[in-house]
Amino acid sequence: MRQATVYIDREALQYNLNRVKQLAPTAQIVSMVKANAYGHGVKDCLAALGGTDAFGVACLEEALEIRELGYQQPITLIEGVFSEDEMQVVIDNNLECIVHHHQQLDWLRAHKDAYIAKNLKVWVKLNSGMNRLGFKVAEIIEVINALKAEGFTCVLAMHFANADAENHPLNEQQKNQFLHVKEACAPIMASCCNSAAIFKWPELNFDFVRPGIMLYGASPFADQTANDLDLKPVMTFTAAVIALNTIQAGESVGYGSHFVATEEMQLAIVSIGYGDGYPRAFPKQNYVSIQGKTTPVVGRVAMDMIAIDVTGLNTPLGTEVELWGKNRLVDNVAEANGTIGYELLCRLSARPIRK
Ligand SMILES: Cc1ncc(COP(=O)(O)O)c(C=O)c1O
Repeated sequence: MRQATVYIDREALQYNLNRVKQLAPTAQIVSMVKANAYGHGVKDCLAALGGTDAFGVACLEEALEIRELGYQQPITLIEGVFSEDEMQVVIDNNLECIVHHHQQLDWLRAHKDAYIAKNLKVWVKLNSGMNRLGFKVAEIIEVINALKAEGFTCVLAMHFANADAENHPLNEQQKNQFLHVKEACAPIMASCCNSAAIFKWPELNFDFVRPGIMLYGASPFADQTANDLDLKPVMTFTAAVIALNTIQAGESVGYGSHFVATEEMQLAIVSIGYGDGYPRAFPKQNYVSIQGKTTPVVGRVAMDMIAIDVTGLNTPLGTEVELWGKNRLVDNVAEANGTIGYELLCRLSARPIRK
């Protein structure tokens, strides 16, 4: 049987959740479990996130999956509902909506009594410069004050475009706008911190923080790894050695024959490829971890196989190779791939076995 395997370390997830609690001790934690818990498998992750106050998801289907699994914590739909008929499902399942445009406000008001009777909060989204979702400053103050007057309990919500960047000018603008609206609508609950902001701006933790990537033990920052941030990788992605070859100087490896050996070397062929969600294009040299050592991937990644350099390692067939995990951080694989850990974690295919 093919051995490509995804292991989920629930203790690591609990550890990372505790890191959030240390960094934001007074805020409630809305654990972001959208996109199948960032590719980790929502069922396993929920079981390890017992200490969270709430969950955040991107759509109704994701919220309903959590309810079907039996979890009763509040769930926020971070893009709100996409049509009015979803609003009744929201109320029936005790879900909470972001509102970010006027039609959503109309749909909410059409279900006002039931929404309020269930004590569900309305998360009102400020567009402070990211220009994806939300009301601009002047408008949101009116919107929130009207909703409050109608009896809704509101949370002012915002998302940073550059929380991972040092000294980006938009950060100050977004903070200032958020604080201005918060004051103009006082008293009001507030939420603006994702993982990067939780690390950087403890003064902005307010009532609810919304950690995503840090829960899964990967870094939100390009220049810091999970180890630097005292986070533990939750996913370990492995595959097995299925063939061993010795090649001589001048011989090439794999499709396109781009890698040419400069001296005799031992290769291990590992049964992993882009068909499993392992990236094909590596603008920088990529590595795997095997037998406690970090060793280069050589030649192109194919649909089902890669070749790695095991010269001098005495590697038996069947040896497990860590593609990412605690020894080879997904942050570093992402860096070599020219992407972010978020993407690699989310886009594994259905082929690897999950344990
Ligand atoms: C609204 C919102 N809040 C929080 C998060 C979590 O972000 P991160 O994974 O960077 O912590 C996301 C992720 O995209 C988001 O869209």
